[in-house]
Amino acid sequence: MFSNEGKAKDVKTPRICDVVWHDGEFIKWNDARVHVMSHVLHYGSSVFEGIRCYATERGPAVFRLKEHMQRFLNSAKIYRMDHDLNLDQLCDASVALVERSGLDQCYIRPILFRSLDEERPAFGVNPFPNPLACYIGAWDWGKYLGDEAIEKGVDVCVSTWNRLTPNSMPAMAKSGANYMNSQLIKMEALLNGFAEGIALDDRGYVSEGSGENIFVVNGDIVLTPPLSSSILAGITRDSVIQICHELGITVKERSIQRAALYVADEAFFSGTAAEITPIRAVDRITVGAGGRGPITEKIQKAFFEITKGERKAPGEWLTYVKAAKASQPGNNGSQPEAATDVSVRNQTAEPAMKFQTAANAPD
Ligand SMILES: Cc1ncc(COP(=O)(O)O)c(C=O)c1O
Repeated sequence: MFSNEGKAKDVKTPRICDVVWHDGEFIKWNDARVHVMSHVLHYGSSVFEGIRCYATERGPAVFRLKEHMQRFLNSAKIYRMDHDLNLDQLCDASVALVERSGLDQCYIRPILFRSLDEERPAFGVNPFPNPLACYIGAWDWGKYLGDEAIEKGVDVCVSTWNRLTPNSMPAMAKSGANYMNSQLIKMEALLNGFAEGIALDDRGYVSEGSGENIFVVNGDIVLTPPLSSSILAGITRDSVIQICHELGITVKERSIQRAALYVADEAFFSGTAAEITPIRAVDRITVGAGGRGPITEKIQKAFFEITKGERKAPGEWLTYVKAAKASQPGNNGSQPEAATDVSVRNQTAEPAMKFQTAANAPD
């Protein structure tokens, strides 16, 4: 019934952390399971985050951890998820998870969802009777849009699927259900031979990719759609805007017409997974010179220097995992066990530990 095109394509995942944080403690990967009748599986009732931890000379450093966790809490608030989690606890748990994993770089995935109370099951749409569960997992993830994409760029299409309308599903909440829309966009793009699809908003203006925000460059001005174009308020988008300010590049939030994509001098995606990925062509129309343009390259270079800890960030953007460990009373500075091979799943977990940001971490 369906073509096999695109089915084999996915992001490389070389290693997975063998433990998962669950409501305050670490459990084995194999024990992180849910009942098939859980509310989330039937009604999409989850919110989540995607956070990158980068390898730096001072060990792994989590990028903009607080901002991601604040967005996570905001998403939960929009969906009236009444939980006991707080920002510090979530940040500490993520740092402890990375430390526990032994991974030098990884992608961190917190998720909060409506589960099932097996003693008092509830199966209706009404989410309130269902207990909430929070987990954080981590894995080593490759380049989201392909290994060559960062330098050469990607060929994309404008999707026939629109982005969510503001009063149907809030795009500013990073909810699992929103990603059914993203999947329609992504599948259509892959099946038509493109790396990614760009959705328009309900008025026909450019919104975002299935999992990325978008920027276009006209002359020396950088433009990106406003929040009112049904976008997720991307943390990488915000980083790009702040980097532009630092580099003296004019950046404006503007409604962008579809045709403006075709005649832009440069275009690029921003996102935690995609990082900063140039767009080479849209609907088989070459953007600018067809590759990574000079302004994109400048922004991308600054971004990667910051994430590697080689350049001062405009704010406290890096949370160093080892600095966090060193701050623990009684810590002897020994290396954590490497527990990252997908086949190793039987190690015991340790309690969560405090973290520090780049600003107060010792050199
Ligand atoms: C739909 C969508 N838009 C934009 C983004 C980029 O957001 P961020 O830079 O915070 O990862 C993402 C990635 O999470 C996304 O899924």
